[in-house]
Amino acid sequence: MVPRLIGFCCSQPPVMKRRAEVVPLASGKVLELGAGGGANLGLYDRARVESVTGVDPSEGLIALAEERMAPSDRGFFHVERGVAEELPFPAASFDTVVSTFTLCSVQDPARALAEAKRVLKPGGRLLFLEHGLSPEADVAKWQRRIEPFWKPIAGGCHLTRPVTDSVTGAGFTVPERHGRYMEKSPKFAAWVEWGSASAA
Ligand SMILES: C[S@@+](CC[C@H](N)C(=O)[O-])C[C@H]1O[C@@H](n2cnc3c(N)ncnc32)[C@H](O)[C@@H]1O
Repeated sequence: MVPRLIGFCCSQPPVMKRRAEVVPLASGKVLELGAGGGANLGLYDRARVESVTGVDPSEGLIALAEERMAPSDRGFFHVERGVAEELPFPAASFDTVVSTFTLCSVQDPARALAEAKRVLKPGGRLLFLEHGLSPEADVAKWQRRIEPFWKPIAGGCHLTRPVTDSVTGAGFTVPERHGRYMEKSPKFAAWVEWGSASAA
């Protein structure tokens, strides 16, 4: 039930619109953190991406990703069971790490970002699109109030995590900061930030 609800919410048109600005920038060997659900699968530019490896701890969401895969996706995309905080890959293995709506749910975002940095090749990029703490004090206040009730029904999703500041705090460089509220969504869950971060 929860995986299907997450899959549904994460595939709504305002969310897909934001994804379409980020995911097609991926290239080479790609690692997707929290790839369960497979919502980004159709957005990768097959001319630029060699393969996509996903990690996700949720069997239900991995099953959903597999349901969404067409026969032509096999060999291009696969998801392994695992957590972003402890990636089962050697250092410098990927050209791009993609994280969309995942850092809200991991146990330890700083550790997940440190792992993303470790597995990126020199010159590699972290592409992120995450919802999080609103810059508006009034909205942030409501996010703090709602979060304890929201987390258990939304698969452990936090509403109050800073996004771009966490990425730069992990030692990435983010040349351009982007943020906005997604359309047609309640403000407490609608603030998203995205960017292309380099590990240099
Ligand atoms: C809101 S869903 C988003 C799914 C997908 N990233 C997307 O863009 O639609 C959060 C995802 O993070 C995954 N997740 C939770 N804890 C995680 C962890 N420690 N490491 C990696 N993924 C995790 C969940 O299983 C789920 O697939």
